[in-house]
Amino acid sequence: MESILQVDQLSKSFGKIKAVNQLSFKVGKGQVFGILGPNGSGKTTTLSMLLGLIPPDKGEFSWFGQPPSKESRKRIGSVIESPNFFPYLDAVTNLQIVADIKDKPYDDIDEVLQLASLYERRFSKFRTFSFGMRQRLAIASALLGKPEVLILDEPTNGLDPQGIAQIRELIALVASRGTTILLASHLLDEVQKICTYVLVLRNGVMLFSGDVKEVLSVSDSIEMAAADMHLLKTAVPELPGFSSITETDGIIQVHFSSTVKTSEVNAFLYQKGIVLSHLSEKKRSLEQHFLELLQDTP
Ligand SMILES: Nc1ncnc2c1ncn2[C@@H]1O[C@H](COP(=O)(O)OP(=O)(O)OP(=O)(O)O)[C@@H](O)[C@H]1O
Ligand SMILES: [Mg+2]
Repeated sequence: MESILQVDQLSKSFGKIKAVNQLSFKVGKGQVFGILGPNGSGKTTTLSMLLGLIPPDKGEFSWFGQPPSKESRKRIGSVIESPNFFPYLDAVTNLQIVADIKDKPYDDIDEVLQLASLYERRFSKFRTFSFGMRQRLAIASALLGKPEVLILDEPTNGLDPQGIAQIRELIALVASRGTTILLASHLLDEVQKICTYVLVLRNGVMLFSGDVKEVLSVSDSIEMAAADMHLLKTAVPELPGFSSITETDGIIQVHFSSTVKTSEVNAFLYQKGIVLSHLSEKKRSLEQHFLELLQDTP
């Protein structure tokens, strides 16, 4: 996968607080990359450094395979702080002002308003916009000039469920057009629903990162049953990553110490002449995984 962003040992302290501590990661083209962490874990600090808003103490990063520059910055759209628009001007005029400041043409204005489902309200004054509409207008303004990357910090903060759903749809739409998205959030649910990849941050340190689907498919245990339970119970301990076995009501629960796939388990047992009558994965949610990770670390 083509790398859009490469971060290497990035660190930033504020006095004694290590806000970001030796953070390294890569974002590939087209990824919807989520930085997930509780309040104060260093998400905004990370994004601010990547946008050149604050300098890192140590470490480096490259955008599009180049050291950060004014040119690379122009290829990135972002919403980091709460949206700031002129209350008595309408959406179109506000976006024209943003386009002027960013030195972008007005050509995209209708399109970004449509993307953000604000086209019908384009001539309404900003002050009449709901909180959710304001947030969508901020994303629309970040999309002016067709950036290759969109950076969003807590895009659904303070929104109601409908507002959250609208932002989620907007992000999915932007991602479907091939735009790479880097998003910070303290909400598991948000990352789980929007992102393809997740990096979990705590106290400025990366605890874990991985494909959201893979994180979800990490299974604690697999339930199994077969006509010949005796044969099954003798074969199961030979499975790679096997740790223990428990039995209830004619079904065994097999626990593993590492990631296992049910398909592999099935194939392994089939080779041994065992046809399973029951095979069910007990998935851990990203939430459980996230909470465990936060507990494990002092
Ligand atoms: N300008 C600053 N001066 C002093 N300390 C700061 C500054 N900016 C951030 N910090 C500290 O750095 C740490 C990380 O803050 P940051 O805002 O990056 O976290 P966050 O993950 O974005 O949190 P939240 O979910 O609350 O937005 C916190 O301990 C915070 O108090
Ligand atoms: Mg923040």
